Amino acid sequence: MRYADRITFLEDRSLLEAFSLPKDDSLISFAAGFPSPDSYPMEEIEEAFMKTIKEAGPAAFSYATTQGLDSLREEILKRMKGKLKVSFSMEEIIITSGSQQGVDMSGMLFVNKDDIILFETPSYLGAVNALRTYEAKLIGIPTDKDGIIIDELKKSLVEYGDLVKMIYVIPDYQNPTGRSWSCERRKDFINAIKDYDIPVIEDGAYSEIAFDTEPLRPLVSYDEKGQVIYVGTFSKIFSPGLRVAWLCAREDIMEKYLVLKNASDLASATITQYQMDYYLKHFDMDKHIEKITTLYRHRRNVMADAIDKFFPEEAKYLLPKGGLFIWVELPPEKDTRELLKRALAKNIAFIPGSAFYPSNRKYNEMRLNFSNLEDEDIISGIEILGEVTKKYLEEG
Ligand SMILES: Cc1ncc(COP(=O)(O)O)c(C=O)c1O
Repeated sequence: MRYADRITFLEDRSLLEAFSLPKDDSLISFAAGFPSPDSYPMEEIEEAFMKTIKEAGPAAFSYATTQGLDSLREEILKRMKGKLKVSFSMEEIIITSGSQQGVDMSGMLFVNKDDIILFETPSYLGAVNALRTYEAKLIGIPTDKDGIIIDELKKSLVEYGDLVKMIYVIPDYQNPTGRSWSCERRKDFINAIKDYDIPVIEDGAYSEIAFDTEPLRPLVSYDEKGQVIYVGTFSKIFSPGLRVAWLCAREDIMEKYLVLKNASDLASATITQYQMDYYLKHFDMDKHIEKITTLYRHRRNVMADAIDKFFPEEAKYLLPKGGLFIWVELPPEKDTRELLKRALAKNIAFIPGSAFYPSNRKYNEMRLNFSNLEDEDIISGIEILGEVTKKYLEEG
């Protein structure tokens, strides 16, 4: 078969594999970034499903508008205003099928072949893969514990000039490192980009999974030009299977997204929009989020304690203050792809850090998910992985 060139850019299958690891009871997987199925409020979901069918009737089974259900969009805007202190109008929000679709459509909208996309690195592999298909050159901007390094960003903006067509960032408890940008860094970022006509995609997938503080103000709340496009999702705070997410953008930009959304899938599934809307109107989403953040904070602590106990001293990590992941760094000469082979032989999976670099890959890191495992599995999995890591490091 003669395939399009873009399929050859997707050589990294780590995410695909994380989604399809066998459901083998003996495997302990720290690989995928899934929320815990125990956290789904099943009784409330059942009520939302049944009532939706009864109350909305056939409307719930017809096409929704391309922009999405009015009432759901209103609910999301209310939450964004309350939680994230950011206001958009009803014309400035569209419902998407997962925030992955929002990221993908952004590539469709702004990027031509050989353009440049800047990423904070490391970054979300799903976004790297989605945007790679537009045949752009992906350039990683280094980060430190407070977020993207502004001087490095400025250097790339000058070096690549008009070729830069988009910047993609995850300022809150990001995937894969779990780090969050400081307030200062957020303001400095907006100052650094405001003189350039470049859209920024702010991915807020983890913004409400905050363990110690209220969610920080998103970049979009500092942006006076309407340069930042915000993608949000119910996947990590509620359920990824509903595929209900949203994208907010200035009205003139939104008009273009509408055309693209219509061209790519006409509209998102109607029934899950109604169900999500029912849930938001009749139940307490904030209380639910408090419940899951308590669970994930606990699991983070269990994993961190186990790493402290079982990993060799040379393995370093920063305790994440939110999100679903701990990012572990080994000495620079080590390669976690090799470690993964040995770990898999002992039925332990994780994603090697190199998968999360759009460019200038580093090979000595790994991402460990803590949200989707019971305490006993976290502890025994980390004990085995700690042993395997010790042996690997001792080989010199
Ligand atoms: C940073 C980030 N953005 C987007 C997504 C995709 O989320 P959705 O299920 O809304 O497509 C993920 C999923 O892991 C993610 O980590």
